[in-house]
Amino acid sequence: MYKYPVYKPIIGEQEKKYVTECLDSTWISSKGKFISLFENKFSEYVKCDYATTCTNGTVALHLALLALDIKETEEVIVPTLTYIASVNAITYVGAKPIFVDSENDYWQMDTKKIEEKITSRTKAIVVVHLYGHSTKMDDIVKIAKKYNLKIIEDCAEAFGTRYKGKHVGSFGDIATYSFFGNKTITTGEGGMITTNNESLYKKILKLKGQGLAENKEYWHDILGYNYRMTNIACAIGLAQLERASFVLDKKRMIARHYKDELESLPIVFHKESSECFHSYWMCTILTENEKMRDNLRIYLKENSIETRPIFNPIHKMPMYNIHEQFKIAEDLSKRGINLPSYPDLDKQDVSNICAIIKSFFVNIA
Ligand SMILES: Cc1ncc(COP(=O)(O)O)c(C=O)c1O
Repeated sequence: MYKYPVYKPIIGEQEKKYVTECLDSTWISSKGKFISLFENKFSEYVKCDYATTCTNGTVALHLALLALDIKETEEVIVPTLTYIASVNAITYVGAKPIFVDSENDYWQMDTKKIEEKITSRTKAIVVVHLYGHSTKMDDIVKIAKKYNLKIIEDCAEAFGTRYKGKHVGSFGDIATYSFFGNKTITTGEGGMITTNNESLYKKILKLKGQGLAENKEYWHDILGYNYRMTNIACAIGLAQLERASFVLDKKRMIARHYKDELESLPIVFHKESSECFHSYWMCTILTENEKMRDNLRIYLKENSIETRPIFNPIHKMPMYNIHEQFKIAEDLSKRGINLPSYPDLDKQDVSNICAIIKSFFVNIA
C-alpha cells in the first residue's frame, strides 16, 4: 500500500444512499430511474443533446465506430500516444488505425501531421483529449470538413475539459467517456456516449441493446451487443456528477500546487494552452531523459509514492508493430510521469510529495 497512490476516487454518503435505494427497490440491472437521471444530468453538464450510458469507455468507442458505420478496408486516423482502447476499438470493427505523432507543447495529436496521412480510404478521426488537455479542435473540424471525415472525440480522460469555452466532445459527431475508478467521475466500470445527432443516438441505443427491433418482442433485426450499464453503476455516477465541480476545482488546485512547488527543478509540468481549460485528469511531468525518469520513479516508490509512466505509443505494440518513427510521442513516453492526482490530496500532501521529488534532484539525479 502506497501512502500516496496515483489515484483513488471520493466515494461519499450520496453514492451509498443512491446505491442503497437501488438495492432496496430491486432495480439492479439495466433498468431503473438512475439510468435516465445520470444520462440527463450528464448531457446537461457537457451541453449535448443526447447521452447514453454503456459498460465502459472501450465499449463506448466500439459503439461510436459501429454507429458511424466504419468497417473493414477503411482507415481511421488516431494519435499513437494514447491508451490502447482508442486504437483497439478501431481494430474491433475491422478498420485500420493510421497513427499520427503528438505535438510537443501539450502532448496532443499533432493536427499539422494529419493531412499527410489521409487517403481515399480514410473515413474518420479518433481524437483523444489526453491527460485532461484538449486537442486543437478548430484544426480537426477544418480537416474533417475538407475530406468529409467523421469525428469521434475520446474524452475518457477529459471530463470537465473545455476548448475555447466549450466542453470537449461538442465538436465532433460522437464523443465517448470512461468512468473507470481512476477517472474524474467514476462508476467503478462504465462509459457514456454523447452526440447531437438524433439518428446516431437511436442507432447507438439499438446497438447497445442487443439490436432489438421496435414494436416486436424478442425480434432482433441487426447484430447488437449487450453493452448496457446497470442502475447501480448509474446511481454511483449520479452522485459523482453532483460532486463534479468540487472535484474539478480540487484537481486544478492540486495542479497549481505541483507547478508552484516544482518550478525550480529541471522538469516540465504539463502546460495549459490559452485555448484550453485543463481538467488535469493526471498531473504529469517530463524529466530530462528516460534514465532520470526511471530513477525518479524508483525513488518515489521507495518513499511510498505511486507513479505511472506516460503511455507507450501504440504503434510499437505487437498487434500493430508499425516501423515508422513518431519522434515526439516516443520521446514523451520515455520521459513522462503521472504523479498522484486524486482529489483528496491537500496542499500539505502535494508539498510532501514535492519535497521527496526535490530531495531526489538534490541527492541523486
Ligand atoms: C483515452 C482513453 N480511451 C479509452 C479508455 C477506455 O476506458 P475504459 O477503461 O472505461 O474501457 C481509457 C481508459 O482508461 C482512456 O484513457
